[in-house]
Amino acid sequence: MTKTDSYDFDIAAPDAGAMIESLRAFGYDLPTSISDLIDNSIYAGAKNVWLKFYWNGENSTFSLKDDGCGMNEDELINAMRLGSRNPLEERDPEDLGRFGLGLKTASFSQCRRLTVATKSAGQNIAIRCWDIDQVVKTGEWRLLKITGKNADSYFSDLEKMENGTVVLWENIDRIVSGTRVDNGKDHRLFLERIDSVKYHLAMVFHRFLERGRLKIWINERTLEPWDPFLKNKKATQLLNEESLDITKKIVVNPYVLPHHSKIDDETHNYAAGPKGWNAQQGFYVYRKERLIVAGSWLGLGFKKEEHYKLARIQIDIPNSMDIQWEIDVRKSIARPPAFLRDDLKRIARLTREKAAEIYRHRGKIIARASASNFVFVWEKKVRHGKIFYSLNRQHPLIKEVLDNPDEYNPTIRALIRLIEETVPSPMIAMDNSENPDKQIKPFEKLPSNELVDVMTEVYKSLLASGLTVQDAQNRLAVMEPFYHYPELVVSFFESKQEI
Ligand SMILES: Nc1ncnc2c1ncn2[C@@H]1O[C@H](COP(=O)(O)OP(=O)(O)OP(=O)(O)O)[C@@H](O)[C@H]1O
Ligand SMILES: [Mg+2]
Repeated sequence: MTKTDSYDFDIAAPDAGAMIESLRAFGYDLPTSISDLIDNSIYAGAKNVWLKFYWNGENSTFSLKDDGCGMNEDELINAMRLGSRNPLEERDPEDLGRFGLGLKTASFSQCRRLTVATKSAGQNIAIRCWDIDQVVKTGEWRLLKITGKNADSYFSDLEKMENGTVVLWENIDRIVSGTRVDNGKDHRLFLERIDSVKYHLAMVFHRFLERGRLKIWINERTLEPWDPFLKNKKATQLLNEESLDITKKIVVNPYVLPHHSKIDDETHNYAAGPKGWNAQQGFYVYRKERLIVAGSWLGLGFKKEEHYKLARIQIDIPNSMDIQWEIDVRKSIARPPAFLRDDLKRIARLTREKAAEIYRHRGKIIARASASNFVFVWEKKVRHGKIFYSLNRQHPLIKEVLDNPDEYNPTIRALIRLIEETVPSPMIAMDNSENPDKQIKPFEKLPSNELVDVMTEVYKSLLASGLTVQDAQNRLAVMEPFYHYPELVVSFFESKQEI
């Protein structure tokens, strides 16, 4: 124990081996970790980033090369240090970094050996390597000096370049552990991982890619941007752009995307995005044009619902508000500060309303076109001068159940009779007269998939009864309870066409 004037203390430095293994669990996946590396390349001024995935079973590798400004040897050593900068430090407004960790934590989350080779103008190539196994074995933060011989082929390009950086991941256990180079399935899974990286990067860096400020090459092919807002389509609506915050540093652009009927199928499928139409609705938070959150209602109290799926709202925030927005190391989370919540709620509400209008429009047309006679589940009847309620035997789902000659048929018939005879009509009548506003619509306030599940069964039974697809769809649109939800009916039909 050491004594100073004012207090006693022990030095309790982290255990290097345990610490470096724990640093692997920051929650990155492959696409988010590669995005973190590309952030660094962008800030280093790179115009090109070349990604190479090399399949070799358990010896597969990944490398990133950029033509950014590179680093000299001292800068490289500092860059490899964990916590190379204090997160509280003010950063250049263009800097995509914050914590001084990304390069290391992103890499360790995927591999056990990270080597960085770099060259800044007029300097020699500098190379350093973190090998997790070495740190664990020695218990020391030994940053290895590498001659480049072992991994020459990865670094030799730098010799011809004025400046640039190569990041090499070897022993990428999180991706290829237990795989065999000659196993077709393992290889296919590896290729699928590459696809998920493509989709993610096309989305996260789309604003850099769109304006030609950056080219990303994945195994020699350039990556096309994915624009969540379909800005180049006439039918996309941009509602009012707004600057929030007195300093006007936060700019919000709410978009309502076109209805499926206004764009071709290919564009519709493209616009669905990596997670699909429903999941991609909401706010898109950009920090210096780099996408942090792709489709979220940001905990403002809104749910993702099918009929709001055309609402996508762009927010631009500066890096000087990282703390207020609770930006995390992975750059995958952002939470709006309290003073912005009301404005964001107001904008979200307005955009959702507009989006629902566009979405419902076609639903209404279809419902009107086929509203000949509605099919109800319940019928009111009179028996010996008294009212009772019975299930409509002509309703396709009920008909199919009753026509089914299986052994449970008598039980089902008995159950239906029991339900009909015991409908609690006095209680319903009383509740209705006391609280007329509290009566819930069929399937109201339930997740839309519950309704869609029922719709699927009814649709199947309509087809089984010999109706054509068109007739079955027309009938479904006017059937209780589906006619309450014309927009869901339309999207259900559309999904049937896509299959
Ligand atoms: N490709 C690169 N080219 C030039 N310099 C780089 C490159 N990658 C990293 N650096 C340097 O290394 C430093 C550390 O990078 P690292 O990603 O670990 O932290 P950061 O970017 O500062 O913050 P964050 O943890 O938020 O990413 C960077 O600040 C930068 O100076
Ligand atoms: Mg970084």
